[in-house]
Amino acid sequence: MSTSYYIRPMEERDISQAIDIDNEAFPTQWPRPTYSPYKSELKNRLARYIVLTKPRDRSDQLEQQRSITRDEQSWFSRLFNLKPRHSYTLPPSSTEFVIGIAGIWLMVDEAHITTIGLRNDFRGQGLGELLLIATIELAQRLNANVITLEVRVSNSIAQSLYRKYRFQEVGRRLRYYSDNGEDALIMTTTSIKSPQFISYFQQLQNEHRRKCQNLY
Ligand SMILES: CC(C)(COP(=O)(O)OP(=O)(O)OC[C@H]1O[C@@H](n2cnc3c(N)ncnc32)[C@H](O)[C@@H]1OP(=O)(O)O)[C@@H](O)C(=O)NCCC(=O)NCCS
Repeated sequence: MSTSYYIRPMEERDISQAIDIDNEAFPTQWPRPTYSPYKSELKNRLARYIVLTKPRDRSDQLEQQRSITRDEQSWFSRLFNLKPRHSYTLPPSSTEFVIGIAGIWLMVDEAHITTIGLRNDFRGQGLGELLLIATIELAQRLNANVITLEVRVSNSIAQSLYRKYRFQEVGRRLRYYSDNGEDALIMTTTSIKSPQFISYFQQLQNEHRRKCQNLY
């Protein structure tokens, strides 16, 4: 059975759930995430955060829906190329369960993934990949040329996801993580504007759609 998942820009009302996800996805991260840095990030012109949500339960979906504002609509249009795969009507915030978050900073022509994470119970079902697809689409809509990120050397699950999307290791930041002194791998794509990347990305999206039909 299909569940209605939404991907939309993060809003202030999502911050407490985003912090919960941070705590689950990055339990050793220090300092612990708090409300005000998130709030500043949402106001940062160079940052973009998205959330992956699902209705809390079926009866909640029947509650009154709110229409999206013009700003949100233009954001959606840019993100999803004016042909939304997801409804343009959002459930009221109280009925939405945020299950994943992702964020980028746009620096000149580089989109740097600052975070991507899911609640524990939702991993391993293709949802992390869905979030990465939306993040890459977002970077493309913002006209970035490459996408970069740092990932723990021990995080083989995330590395496997990134390698699937043609991120390659280009360097290391020694003792980057202060909690345990672990190194970070620096991974980057080739040009996401190149015909080769666009065609490979399209192929992966189609495969994901086929494999995870219940998410669409
Ligand atoms: C990393 C994360 C976002 C991946 O999301 P997910 O929903 O678990 O992964 P998906 O089910 O979408 O799988 C996508 C790909 O990830 C990799 N992957 C997922 N689970 C894996 C596992 N148990 N072992 C190895 N690779 C795995 C595979 O490449 C998979 O592609 P495939 O299905 O073609 O093999 C998620 O596990 C998470 O939130 N982890 C904690 C936070 C984190 O580490 N974030 C990254 C920081 S850099």
